[in-house]
Amino acid sequence: MSAVLSQVPQNITATEPDALTGYRTFRLGAFEFRRDAYFAKVSWQVKGQSRSHEMPADAFLRAMMRDVAWGFFYGWVNFDDVLGTRNHYGRVDLYAGSYNAEFKKAGVDHLEQFDTPVIMATFKAILADWVNEGFDPFAAPAETGSAFGFKQGENMAAIERFRVATRRMPGLASDSPLRDDLPVNRQFSDVPQDEPEIRARPGFEGQLHAFNLFKYLSRSDVTWNPSVTSVCKNSLFCPTTEEYILPIFHGNDRVEWFVQLSDEITWEVGDKNTGAPRARVTMKAGDVAAMPADIRHKGYSTKRSMLLVWENTTPDLPKRYERGELPPYPVTF
Ligand code: PHB
Ligand code: FE
Repeated sequence: MSAVLSQVPQNITATEPDALTGYRTFRLGAFEFRRDAYFAKVSWQVKGQSRSHEMPADAFLRAMMRDVAWGFFYGWVNFDDVLGTRNHYGRVDLYAGSYNAEFKKAGVDHLEQFDTPVIMATFKAILADWVNEGFDPFAAPAETGSAFGFKQGENMAAIERFRVATRRMPGLASDSPLRDDLPVNRQFSDVPQDEPEIRARPGFEGQLHAFNLFKYLSRSDVTWNPSVTSVCKNSLFCPTTEEYILPIFHGNDRVEWFVQLSDEITWEVGDKNTGAPRARVTMKAGDVAAMPADIRHKGYSTKRSMLLVWENTTPDLPKRYERGELPPYPVTF
């Protein structure tokens, strides 16, 4: 495969655009990524034989977008039952079939580890080339154009969107802004837009703060994209608005908590290593659930809903779970 090419960074291995589809093909280690009008196709070699796996282009791009935007996230990001990444914080595994019981049994799985900047640059180059004008991988399907067809333009603004990174709380001086400039989403037109009144005792001005989280979330223009919205030591509140399907099957390397703030999400829960189904959990407004450290989960939300994801960034947690030092559940009944 030839490297080079005008709009692709020099360290990325990619072909010239295909004469028919207009898309480039990318290589990372022994993995090859190719797309056509409808599908993303990933191939790899095992024991001298070529193996491949296909995903619908829209699902693939939505998953890859999350992996890039979240910096490979906590633990495992499964694009589907076969393909995914595991974050080792500095290095990242890219795998096909390594966490799929049947692929393992058949011996057709493959895993390679890359330095984070290398896999990140490759994934970004794939997104830049494969996301067409009018398609926004963060948007709900009803609020974006199509991912399908031959290459047509690009959407760099959508894929390089600034991700909210709050230091303490939005709206505090020199912290991330409240997003009053964004319109209220069509599905949150009933959400009250009033802000709390803040009256600090003299001497505490600028230290006491509050804002209307429901108003804030009602103006989110992205789906399935938790952003850090309050920081208290190692406790991160990451609220998000959800419509359609979480584009990844997340296998966490620690326990995380979900607080359903509005409407309803159904979670599909499977074994982290094999993918075997373990539970279906329907969460209605007000429900709270802990997702254990030994599962993978994927959510479904018909009506756009609000979810609070609560993450624990205590150093060393992943290692302590992996060693079996901590039980995978936060509470034993
Ligand atoms: C999760 O994997 O816990 C997760 C990811 C994205 C969301 C919600 C939950 O929008
Ligand atoms: Fe998760």
